[in-house]
Amino acid sequence: MRIGLFYGSSTCYTEMAAEKIQRTIANIVGKNIVDLFNVKHEPLLTINNYTTVILGIPTWDFGKIQEDWDENWNELNDINFNGKNIALYGLGDQEGYAEWFLDAMGYLHDHIQAQGGTFVGYWPNKGYTFEASKALTRNKQFFVGLALDDDNQFELTDERINNWCQLICKELGLV
Ligand SMILES: Cc1cc2nc3c(=O)[nH]c(=O)nc-3n(C[C@H](O)[C@H](O)[C@H](O)COP(=O)(O)O)c2cc1C
Repeated sequence: MRIGLFYGSSTCYTEMAAEKIQRTIANIVGKNIVDLFNVKHEPLLTINNYTTVILGIPTWDFGKIQEDWDENWNELNDINFNGKNIALYGLGDQEGYAEWFLDAMGYLHDHIQAQGGTFVGYWPNKGYTFEASKALTRNKQFFVGLALDDDNQFELTDERINNWCQLICKELGLV
């Protein structure tokens, strides 16, 4: 099985996380099974080639969707998410933008959920301080995907990625 990882990234943090996730999953399952795509260069329709996808999205400009995702957002309507496993991760800044922390990940989740996608990798919101987020679920106790904040908690990112990759590999039945 191969996993398609699609990310948008304006200042490279979400891209760095994509590479770490690729390496971490390779370590867990013993070989590289993750294909990386920057949505600036790859049509989102390529998602149709995978039954399992990881999507990485940062939030920009007070709760907005990152520009490359935003430009291609309508293409999401042409993807059949029924029967697909989706894992999300988001990048944001919980101090500088506390009222909009990771909102874009929430928008992506809600869009795909309405189109029938099945999610793995919901992530507890413990260890973060913010005012509001559109990326919360399950009584607001979980984020809809891995929450990363390289602006304020860069030192926690590797461990979070490691734990989250273990979680999704288990949920996907890979380990
Ligand atoms: C002008 C600006 C606006 C931002 N707006 C938000 C925001 O509304 N919510 C949030 O969680 N993070 C916000 N951020 C933080 C970015 O999401 C964060 O720096 C992220 O790591 C960027 O990822 P990228 O380098 O992959 O684009 C903002 C950052 C900047 C510089």
